[in-house]
Amino acid sequence: MPDVDDLKEGKQYYTDKPQKGEGFFLKGSNNLEWGMKDRLARIFNPVSGNTVMLAFDHGYLMGPTSGLERMDLTIVPLIEYADCIMCTRGALRTIVPPTCGTPVSLRYSSGTTVLTELNDECLMDIEEAVRLNASLLAVMVAVGDRFEATTIRNLTRTVDLGTRYGIPTLGVTAVGKDMARDARYISMASRVCAENGAHVVKTYFCDDFEKVTSTCPVPIVLAGGKKLPELDALTMAYRAIDQGANGVDMGRNIFQAGNPIAMIQAVKAVVHDREIPEKAFDMYNTLKAEQK
Ligand code: R5P
Repeated sequence: MPDVDDLKEGKQYYTDKPQKGEGFFLKGSNNLEWGMKDRLARIFNPVSGNTVMLAFDHGYLMGPTSGLERMDLTIVPLIEYADCIMCTRGALRTIVPPTCGTPVSLRYSSGTTVLTELNDECLMDIEEAVRLNASLLAVMVAVGDRFEATTIRNLTRTVDLGTRYGIPTLGVTAVGKDMARDARYISMASRVCAENGAHVVKTYFCDDFEKVTSTCPVPIVLAGGKKLPELDALTMAYRAIDQGANGVDMGRNIFQAGNPIAMIQAVKAVVHDREIPEKAFDMYNTLKAEQK
């Protein structure tokens, strides 16, 4: 029964206190709407402010990359350790358990492979991303490349479509073979992504990385790149976080590591707890020995 008496005269709880209004923890995201913030807060840990994304989308342009031949065996056991997974819709539907609960950064642009010319890409339907419950839409952006205009149009279109449904966009900077991987180029490419609406930018490490993060108004996640010795990869991640990155989006340096489960945990220690590389490497070796 509804309590009609209470409508006439009831105790008033806390009406003398101003309503709490909290700022959002993530750089450049305070003015986004609720759905966007909810998705970003599932990708980035609200305590550390950072994320460890596990990238295994390589097959869309490279085919069965080393370590990804049998993703059901190599990737699925890693998913529980990742804050977010970055993959294609093909991988999602074929090997990722829908029960995993890990947010998805969906590879949203594609078009060419390493056999022809990279970056001549197009986009999938936004309804497909909604059906797959994507938390982030990943689009390649090739600043200075022959397909620069196409990829920036793809980014802009993705931001427009994602905004309709509250799904943020990740601008992935593709550095062409002829481009210098220096702070001048990387900061320009990252800033171009942000100015065109990307909510997060994925880019490569370089000297003076602080110049890249400090001039980009949205969070930057570090792209892993080719496989390095484990200590070097942990050092690169540490330096990136120390210089203002909000996480890593790492593939080969995790799934091609001597022990991928130990490696992703060591990367997490660096990214979330700011563990120094040498200690994280000790942790890697300890976990590796335990898992033998
Ligand atoms: C990069 O543009 C693609 O998304 C890659 O397939 C992937 O993210 C690369 O990961 P990693 O370089 O760490 O292996």
